[in-house]
Amino acid sequence: MKFFIDTANLEQIQEAYDLGVLDGVTTNPSLMAKEGIKGVQNQREHYVKICKIVDGDVSAEVIATDYEGMIREGEELAALDPHIVVKVPCIADGIKAIKYFTEKGIRTNCTLVFSVGQALLAAKAGATYVSPFIGRLDDICGNGVRLVGDIVRMYRTYDYKTQVLAASIRNTKHIIDCVEVGADVATCPLGAIKGLLNHPLTDAGLKKFLEDYRKVNG
Ligand code: E4P
Repeated sequence: MKFFIDTANLEQIQEAYDLGVLDGVTTNPSLMAKEGIKGVQNQREHYVKICKIVDGDVSAEVIATDYEGMIREGEELAALDPHIVVKVPCIADGIKAIKYFTEKGIRTNCTLVFSVGQALLAAKAGATYVSPFIGRLDDICGNGVRLVGDIVRMYRTYDYKTQVLAASIRNTKHIIDCVEVGADVATCPLGAIKGLLNHPLTDAGLKKFLEDYRKVNG
């Protein structure tokens, strides 16, 4: 399973990259706003900075919600760096735009996906990635992980090449759950990735090894 980090924070992206396990980055307008990056030019420069850190796919989301606007914006974003994947919302004009980008060889991430039906349309349009939102479904008493598994099975049944990118991951357990249902990618906050390292038996075992070493070696 590939690991993306779900942030626009350069320090966190660098930290995840330095860990040696990072395959890419996802951003969205809220994450960009959280970093206080204002204005189109600054935002585009920020995407380029992210691409310079990571040797992998970097999702940059269009703001336009109409077909022509998405095409214009998506082509500009894609031209920033070869690592950019154009992130497009799962609405009718978005599906049309994904089809257009697919034919142009521009990679896409179909975002805000909450059903198998939406994922089917994204795959038929040729999306590179589809992003089912786990946490937001769980927030309304849905089952985000089950949706990820359902999409994985549907894509395998029909041999769609679209990769299932589990998004809106809120904790480390979500990551493990995604492994169990066969997600291709999980995009996670840094804390959830680092949480994978935690195990009390690792800490206790290491403590004992070092104590025993010191008993003999001083
Ligand atoms: C990433 O592609 C999504 O935009 C992001 O995971 C959404 O996460 P949230 O539901 O925690 O805002």
